[in-house]
Amino acid sequence: MATLDKTSLQLPKENPEAEDFLPLLGTDHVELYVGNAKQAAHYYMAAWGFQPLAYAGLETGLKDRVSYVLQQDKIRLVLTSPLKSGGDINRHIDAHGDGVKAIALWVDDATKSYKETTQRGAESYMEPTTIKDDQGEVVLSGIHTYGETVHIFVERSNYSGVFMPGYRKWEPHYRPSDVGLKYIDHMVGNVGWNEMNKWCEFYAHVMGFAQLVSFDDKDISTEYTALMSKVMSNGNGRIKFPINEPADGRKKSQIEEYIEFYNGAGVQHMALATDNIIETVSALRDRGVEFLTVPATYYEDVLDRVGEIDEDLAPLRDLGILIDRDDEGYLLQIFTKPILDRPTMFIEIIQRKGAKSFGKGNFKALFEAIEREQASRGTL
Ligand SMILES: [Fe+2]
Repeated sequence: MATLDKTSLQLPKENPEAEDFLPLLGTDHVELYVGNAKQAAHYYMAAWGFQPLAYAGLETGLKDRVSYVLQQDKIRLVLTSPLKSGGDINRHIDAHGDGVKAIALWVDDATKSYKETTQRGAESYMEPTTIKDDQGEVVLSGIHTYGETVHIFVERSNYSGVFMPGYRKWEPHYRPSDVGLKYIDHMVGNVGWNEMNKWCEFYAHVMGFAQLVSFDDKDISTEYTALMSKVMSNGNGRIKFPINEPADGRKKSQIEEYIEFYNGAGVQHMALATDNIIETVSALRDRGVEFLTVPATYYEDVLDRVGEIDEDLAPLRDLGILIDRDDEGYLLQIFTKPILDRPTMFIEIIQRKGAKSFGKGNFKALFEAIEREQASRGTL
């Protein structure tokens, strides 16, 4: 443990073992490289209730790419597509399909964040760079993490514009209502065989995170498949990154399927928090989002397992929402089917009612649901 510098603490410490050399204020945005940003933006607005925020492209002086920025409460997505052939974004999409390129983290000092992490061994992605317009300036820097995924550090205290210099306000006529999504609860990375510990050590050593929990193949296995997982978190608990690796099973695990179709390590899912999961999931389902379902038998004894809950069981059962409890409370969660053509990324919706865990009690039912989907794809 390094000595704590109290003056650098931004928020109450949730995770006492984490170190404080890299204070993170939260997730700034998530950037996906996609084949068609205009149509992806429409999907995230229509199906997911994101609101249009900002745009950059030919009209703003970019020559080779276009980005749409969408927002729902604290969640910001940037959807980026190439406008020409043969560039890095094209190669990324060719290798991985649509997927998360950058998990951008909001910091007070992007230059210090870069120095602290690269000094500890992070591979540089972008040296500290200041971008300016008449609304002020933003400082960006970046490091590599698993696969081709990167972390961008965003320092925006001297900026009052809509998103960042280079972007203009995007105000289309089409503005569907939001669905009550509030913030990113956690973002999960899938890494290759025997790489989980390496990447957990990266988050511990390079970024000062500490391990919250771990699950081994005894926790996360079904008749056929297995995986292992550790959850890394920063000091204030706002950033939680579970890391999964495959474990030996009788058939191909969902992590192996992901690695095969993503061509390596990458972001498996984003968990988005809501204050009312029944309303949120009802709205998402009406807008065409498809969720994994568990057998009706799950609900026969779930209350014996988790005890009393505030919600009626019927709407949870009708929507397929899962329930789990830990020492501090309970949580409600549900997982979409893959939201892309390749069976890679999906989204979790989570409502925490005190629980700080990740739904271990649901793993078996959930993974059996995933295996049924894998079997239908011929990839089990
Ligand atoms: Fe999750």
